[in-house]
Amino acid sequence: MSNEINHVMVVGAGQMGAGIAQVALVAGLKVTLVDVSPEVVAKGRAKIEAGLAKMVEKAKLNDAKLKDAIARLSTANAILDVKGADVGIEAVSENEELKKKIFKDLDAAVRLGGVLATNTSSIPITRIAATTKRPEAVIGMHFMNPVPVMALVEIIRGAATSDETYAATRALAEKMGKTTVVSKDFPGFIVNRVLIPMLNEACFALMEGLASAEDIDTAMKLGTNQPMGPLALADFIGLDTVLSIAQVLHAGLGESKYRPCPLLRQYVEAGWLGKKTGRGFYKY
Ligand code: CAA
Repeated sequence: MSNEINHVMVVGAGQMGAGIAQVALVAGLKVTLVDVSPEVVAKGRAKIEAGLAKMVEKAKLNDAKLKDAIARLSTANAILDVKGADVGIEAVSENEELKKKIFKDLDAAVRLGGVLATNTSSIPITRIAATTKRPEAVIGMHFMNPVPVMALVEIIRGAATSDETYAATRALAEKMGKTTVVSKDFPGFIVNRVLIPMLNEACFALMEGLASAEDIDTAMKLGTNQPMGPLALADFIGLDTVLSIAQVLHAGLGESKYRPCPLLRQYVEAGWLGKKTGRGFYKY
């Protein structure tokens, strides 16, 4: 496999996809952002341009580099229209059927010897890989939200992922300025395996009336030096996402300690999904 990575195709122009594309552009890579709807792609481009402008404001990027980065960004509405990408990074919503379909197309579009990566937080890499003709090239590349700010990329090796794919992915993440960790392909990988039970426990504490949401968050923020308290972080991630990962941990690891908090379920049923809907544990 050739390790040379110059052209990255990012599939999914939402919050995560736009963030990944932005960081890849700043790293000097050619980026094609793909999403089915032209409106979503346009919104993704606007997010990237705003993120880059923010970096200029903070003197992390100069005007010439901003122009150069924007010039390396192209967009498309179909994966199969993108020719010669070295890596495909899928960052669509956590819908397994959709991801499998995307990986069939990535398998056809990304050059031979390239990498097929998924930003999934909860679907087994091994299962996605099995739908392609080159499972050795499939890997998890889990970015944290907000992508331009968070220093970590969690790399997940599926059962068939090759050493070459791992090495190329790690080199790419480092080129994008990230620190990497490597995880086996088990529910929640590292970050969500440890984080989600903490957020879920904060929901139980609130449900039991142990303390107010504000006090639970202040306790954890100031008592353990976290930038956000667990309930604010759950709102930030999205309560539907937190619930869905908690369900994956519970189903995949099978122990009652992972059972999702009923209050979390109820908020999701009410449509109170956190920051994105204007209401979660807090009002926005
Ligand atoms: N592009 C470029 N730079 C950006 C940016 C963007 N899109 N967004 C923010 N920044 C920069 C800002 O300009 C700012 O720069 P300076 O430090 O130079 O001023 C810096 O990033 C911090 O931004 P803000 O001042 O807006 O934010 P803040 O200081 O209030 O911090 C936060 C916000 C980074 C979100 C912080 O509260 C935090 O770290 N929270 C925890 C986030 C977290 O844990 N994320 C992981 C969630 S888990 C996950 O993602 C995995 C999963 O599968 C669920």
